[in-house]
Parts: sequence; structure tokens; C-alpha cells
Amino acid sequence: MGKMDAKIKRQKGVLMPHVVNGNSLADSILEKAKGQIASFSRPPCLAIVMVGNNPASQVYVRRKEEACKKVGIKTKNIHLPSSATEGEVMEQILALNSDSSVDAILVQLPLPPHIDEERVLCQISPKKDVDGFHPENFGRAALGTGQLLPCTPKGVLHILKESKIGLAGKHAVIVGRSRIVGKPLAFLLLNEDCTVTICHSKTKNLKEVARQADILCVAVGKPRTITAEMVKEGAAVIDIGINREGEKLVGDVDFEGVKGKASIITPVPGGVGPMTVAMLIENTLLCYKLQGGK
Ligand code: GUN
Repeated sequence: MGKMDAKIKRQKGVLMPHVVNGNSLADSILEKAKGQIASFSRPPCLAIVMVGNNPASQVYVRRKEEACKKVGIKTKNIHLPSSATEGEVMEQILALNSDSSVDAILVQLPLPPHIDEERVLCQISPKKDVDGFHPENFGRAALGTGQLLPCTPKGVLHILKESKIGLAGKHAVIVGRSRIVGKPLAFLLLNEDCTVTICHSKTKNLKEVARQADILCVAVGKPRTITAEMVKEGAAVIDIGINREGEKLVGDVDFEGVKGKASIITPVPGGVGPMTVAMLIENTLLCYKLQGGK
């Protein structure tokens, strides 16, 4: 399919603009959440645990707090120094688990290297696990029976569904197998009847595999991992990377090179990022209901 053909196909069947506007999609989710919260008997409360001063984490946490404020979710901030021990982090989580004024718990990752992330994530009460990172929620997500799905994969799925490209039978290639994006995304797409391939740092023929993708999702944290010759004409390209290059934020996809070939493409910034935050808001409302909130 040539460039023109891709454009024509979009005009006929696809409502999503070619360059996905993640901010506007996220705004409509936040508006809806705000309306729901207005009818709740009390404001939901999200606890955000951050350990240390990772600059990227500080930016993400600020965005999450701003979104909560916008829709009427209370936040409880727990900021521990980077010297905090695993035991101290665990203690905080146990306290939040049993605090009935807290509906949802988020532990911002990464944690400092002396803390075992897996042990910490296992400690969060599954019903307050707003990120869907607890093995119980991860397992349910994989089985297709989950409610609390990890925010970034859930946001990607939302974008793909909104784009009306149709998922069943499509070959989805995911580049990156992280615990918080690549792996859960693979299961979500499999549960939508995609044929799923996961590529990672040891994959030998990335270019050949990526070229087969109808849906190409990239989450490796390395700029220009995907260039134009790695993309099939008309593929949906979802860029989940966030990389700083000097003053600029760039994704994992060579956006300028690839955009002429893709049927839809997500920009960085303004694509998947705002959707992750919007899904966090949706999940906080789910947690509120799981706590019995009306
Ligand atoms: N670090 C990078 N992405 C995420 C996320 O979605 N949730 C949390 N808790 N930490 C992250």
C-alpha cells in the first residue's frame, strides 16, 4: 500500500487522526471520570509512594498528581529518601493497605537498586494495586479476567480500539519485554485475538520481524530503535518510549521517517504518555469501587 492508499483507507474507515492525539483522548477520559466522581459519596484517595529523587519519576508523579486534582481525586504523598531500606518501604505499604481512607496505592518505579521491586509490588493489597503490578492482577490480566490492568498497556489498547483498525487476526509485534509494559501488553493483545510476537534485546532479526507487524508497539527506551525500513506500509505504530535528548523528549521510533508509512502513529510527547495517566485515573476509580466506595 502506498502513502496515498494509506491516507484513503484512513479517510474511509478510520476515525483516528493519522498522528494520534493522546492529550485529547486522555482529556475526554478525565472529563468522564470527573463526572463520575462528582456523584460519589466521598472523593477517592490515591497514595503515591516515591523513593529517592529520580528526575523522570518526579515529572511523572507531578503529572499524576495534577490529573488527580483535575478530576477530584485526593492524593496522599509518601516521599522516602533514597537511603530508605526495603523494610521501611514495606512498612509504609502495610500501613496504606490497612488505611481505610486510602483506596489505591502507587509505588513509582524504578526503586533504588538496593530495594527488591518484586517484593515491594507483592506487598501491595491486590484490591488497592492501581498499577496492576501485583502478580495476582498480572496473572488475571494475562488470563483475560483482570479488572486492574497495568496503565500503559491499557492506554495502548484504548488507542488501538479507538482507531477502529480492528485487532482480531492482526500481527502485533511488541519490541520490549518489560514487566510493566511489553509483557502485559502482549497478553492484552493476545486476549484481543492478535497474533503476538515479542522481540527483545536478544532478538536476532528485529528488522525482519518488525516489518511483518500490522501493529508495532515499541517500548525499549532507546531512540530510533525503529526506522522507516523496519515498518510495513499501513502499519499502526505505537511508540511507548520516552527518552531525553538534550532539551527534547523523543520516543523509540524515528517519528519523521516512519510517519509517512504508518496508518496511525503516536507522537512523543503527546501520545501514549497522557493515556497512561488517564488509565491511572480510571484504575483509581476501580480501586475505589473495590473498597466498597459508592
Ligand atoms: N515507572 C514508569 N512507568 C510507571 C508506571 O506506569 N507506574 C509506576 N508505578 N511506575 C512507573
